[in-house]
Amino acid sequence: MELNQQSDWVARSLRSVWHPCTQMQHHETVPLIPVSRGQGVWLYDHQGKRYLDAISSWWVNLFGHANPRINAALKQQLDTLEHAMLAGFTHEPVIELSEKLSALTGHVLGHSFYASDGASAVEIALKMSFHSWRNRGHSAKQEFVCLKGSYHGETIGALAVTDVALFKDAYGPLLRASQTVMSPDARQATEGETAADVARRAAADVERLFMEKSDRIAAIIIEPLVQCATGMAMHDPLYLQLVRELCDRYSVHLILDEIAVGCGRTGTFFACQQAGIWPDFLCLSKGISGGYLPLSLVLTRDEIYQAFYSSDVTRGFLHSHSYTGNPLACRAALATLQIFEEDDVLRTNCIKAERLTAALQPLAQHDKVRNFRQRGMIWAFDAIDAAPDFSRRFFATAVEHELLMRPIGASVYMMPPYVLSDEEIDTLANNTLTVFNQVMAG
Ligand SMILES: Cc1ncc(COP(=O)(O)O)c(C=O)c1O
Repeated sequence: MELNQQSDWVARSLRSVWHPCTQMQHHETVPLIPVSRGQGVWLYDHQGKRYLDAISSWWVNLFGHANPRINAALKQQLDTLEHAMLAGFTHEPVIELSEKLSALTGHVLGHSFYASDGASAVEIALKMSFHSWRNRGHSAKQEFVCLKGSYHGETIGALAVTDVALFKDAYGPLLRASQTVMSPDARQATEGETAADVARRAAADVERLFMEKSDRIAAIIIEPLVQCATGMAMHDPLYLQLVRELCDRYSVHLILDEIAVGCGRTGTFFACQQAGIWPDFLCLSKGISGGYLPLSLVLTRDEIYQAFYSSDVTRGFLHSHSYTGNPLACRAALATLQIFEEDDVLRTNCIKAERLTAALQPLAQHDKVRNFRQRGMIWAFDAIDAAPDFSRRFFATAVEHELLMRPIGASVYMMPPYVLSDEEIDTLANNTLTVFNQVMAG
């Protein structure tokens, strides 16, 4: 009965649901897993089989599935106010969330503009940057700079500052050209070079471009510390300091996309805190709602806000989404921030990270592994001589070993929820080693 139910859901889903980021034909061979419920780090299918969500369901889940504290906050909010439009109206959850986020940036980024998905936040930051220059009389500043291997989302504007060929190439004719500069990815270090040396080289590339045409550049957009979607490419915080200085010197906005790396993922609440800098625009999404509801936002400085503040309506930022600042999503975010405060999450994560790094040593030392790397609650390594179908085979083998993992090309990574127990840490490390050995054996 359970088995039939499971295959029923699969058949019905394949008939009617067009799944994201998927060549649907692959499901002729790769399993589609119908999830019936989640609890903590585990997802359960209809047969009761469980999967450790080692990638936090696309990097969103911080405190586990069905978290009792977030659930309780949402249930209360549901009976109070489910939604109200944010133009002309406001409400407690969005106000409190904006105040708390402002405080987390030491009130440097004191204005929050809301949307739903990460890509929408990127669109907002790009539009705001361009429009604020225009309002200040610099309308020639229309170009954006992104990094090699960057990923900022799939909408047309966000895709234009993305540099992942697989996602971008098909839509090339639709996209506005952007400038691409060298990535500070520390894996590019040559013999005797440090990660900081690579950061300096990459910053010099930015300076070359700024010297040539900063009068036409509105902003540079960066995923600070870890470029996730290109395969967890990590860089030295020095890069962010150097680019911040260049942006100040050449009058270019710095947009930091912390959609994947914010909310404690890299060890500090915001990744840019490790460089001791603040951007002009900071994009947040994914983990901010604890992985519960679509919520994204752009935090920005008072001087940007003031560039729009006017008696002239057209100088305003006339951008909106219907669900902007949704009270349920904001309430989930407030509950998430409360857990950070109550549980001293950043400190506890350091202890968990040390334990998982130690447990992963057999993989770090494996003769088929290179570039084992870790920052905060992100781990990655690259398989040597991986077959072209490595990623798909890894996924399929992982589910047989109770793991949800989706390598990016030959880069295997883990971005687990922060609530892993010691036993779950050991399970994750041991099963990943088993899966890796099985897949590499062919
Ligand atoms: C750095 C970064 N920016 C933007 C996005 C897009 O977010 P969304 O998928 O919610 O549109 C992602 C998604 O993975 C991301 O990793």
